[in-house]
Amino acid sequence: MSGALPHRPLRIGFIGFGEVASHVLPGLRDAGLTDIAVYARRPEARDRAAGLGAAASSDIAALADRDVVLACVPGSAAVDAARSAAALPSTLLYVDVSSLDPAGKRAAAEAAPGVFVDAAILGSAVERGHRVPLVASGPGAARFAGLFAPHGMVIEVVGDRPGEAAAIKLVRSVFVKGLEALYAEAFVAARRLGVLDTVEASVAEFLDARPARDTADMLLRSHLLHAARRAEECALSARLVADAGLDPLLSAATAALMARTAARVPQEKVRGRPGVAQAVALLDESLGDNP
Ligand SMILES: NC(=O)c1ccc[n+]([C@@H]2O[C@H](COP(=O)([O-])OP(=O)(O)OC[C@H]3O[C@@H](n4cnc5c(N)ncnc54)[C@H](OP(=O)(O)O)[C@@H]3O)[C@@H](O)[C@H]2O)c1
Repeated sequence: MSGALPHRPLRIGFIGFGEVASHVLPGLRDAGLTDIAVYARRPEARDRAAGLGAAASSDIAALADRDVVLACVPGSAAVDAARSAAALPSTLLYVDVSSLDPAGKRAAAEAAPGVFVDAAILGSAVERGHRVPLVASGPGAARFAGLFAPHGMVIEVVGDRPGEAAAIKLVRSVFVKGLEALYAEAFVAARRLGVLDTVEASVAEFLDARPARDTADMLLRSHLLHAARRAEECALSARLVADAGLDPLLSAATAALMARTAARVPQEKVRGRPGVAQAVALLDESLGDNP
């Protein structure tokens, strides 16, 4: 099968029917992919799938006539799910959307039937449904994009090996989940100090002040120049968080990162107004390998 649609309507299937599957299915159905089968272990999940117009089964063999199966299970269950699907036909496009590390995706690829796609979700399926952005790699990635992009899915093919998409997802999570963790530490500390409203407003004003790319540019450039004094400030922040009765997990790590940059980046190499790529290259070259 090429990236083009087959001559009959595409038959799609889901393994697992949690948050992702139940939010992606309606958009695909409304975009014309109405032949949908779901394998789900719990009766409540099968009822939900049936309520959305799918043929739901507790037997994975119900997916044997599918062209494409989307495995929407937790990362810890991806290999098990792939193994349980092993008897499905070798013509199947097996799309694993779970959040896993590259080695985990390669293990899932080994266990899965058919042609494997490592698909990583970069966003919230709850908020964006089937239009949530995905990156995809693996032998079936181009075919997956060819089949589903016409139905509104947003799929960027990033390579032909399983694990390449997974790596993008996980390194992106350093930032996105790190931001979430920063909110959790800073805002709880602010609440304990009785200043949450003011801090929340100030953080929002900071984030709203300029486009995100300009913020990255500004922060990385000034990081190279001012890491030493920021290390001192952040050490004080960490102490304040501790005084508020919280483990200063992130604020202490921030102080340590600032101190590392100050110690390792030669100031004479910080010239002009480096953009993101130049600033990151200088940091990368200066940091060397850990420790
Ligand atoms: N939700 C999002 O917006 C989002 C965003 C990015 C990435 N992701 C990733 O996408 C994947 C799916 O997320 P989700 O939010 O849909 O998870 P979820 O709500 O926890 O649903 C997972 C589903 O997988 C089923 N399942 C678990 N183990 C299974 C197995 N061995 N065989 C068959 N089915 C199994 C569960 O069924 P049981 O109830 O029977 O266990 C459940 O229906 C995860 O890896 C998640 O990290 C999700």
